[in-house]
Amino acid sequence: MKIAILNGSPRTKNTAAMVNAFAEGAKEAGHEVDILHVGKMQIKECLGCEYCHKKGNGTCIQKDDMQNVLPMLNEADMLVFATPVYYRSITTHLSVVIHRMYPIGKSKKATKSALLVSSLNPGTWKSIEFYYRDLLELIGLEDCGIRTLYGEERESEEKLAEIRAFAKTL
Ligand SMILES: Cc1cc2nc3c(=O)[nH]c(=O)nc-3n(C[C@H](O)[C@H](O)[C@H](O)COP(=O)(O)O)c2cc1C
Repeated sequence: MKIAILNGSPRTKNTAAMVNAFAEGAKEAGHEVDILHVGKMQIKECLGCEYCHKKGNGTCIQKDDMQNVLPMLNEADMLVFATPVYYRSITTHLSVVIHRMYPIGKSKKATKSALLVSSLNPGTWKSIEFYYRDLLELIGLEDCGIRTLYGEERESEEKLAEIRAFAKTL
């Protein structure tokens, strides 16, 4: 299976460690994995212009890093959303990418999804979990699991090994 992981953190730290652990496990299980550090990319907000659904025939009028991301999302069998908690929500970086998936709509190949969240405090991902489940219903993906790490857990090799093991079960 082809897996695209969207890391919405602008840093290469806690969420990235979860992403790397997930990618290692998935690769060990024989999957092909693309890690997209969308939090570090230059991706502008959706203009809501409907160009993609009208004249653009599935392409976006905006020319930025999303041009490279969209084909990878189109080809993936599984989309993994990864984000730190920012004020009880996903990062703006990831949010923008989800909005910019508008040209794909329900026509994408992917059927599966997972969510990786890192935070400082426990339980702060409730709204994210709710949004994620609702999003999957909207875009037609099946949830394979949610993994969260907070506080000192983020440094824990044991916790990262659990994420590695989770990715092996896909
Ligand atoms: C702007 C901002 C808002 C944050 N809001 C929360 C929050 O509401 N709840 C929480 O537990 N942690 C919050 N954090 C902490 C991060 O979620 C946490 O440190 C995370 O592990 C960072 O991941 P990263 O290293 O991949 O960027 C916030 C951090 C920042 C920078």
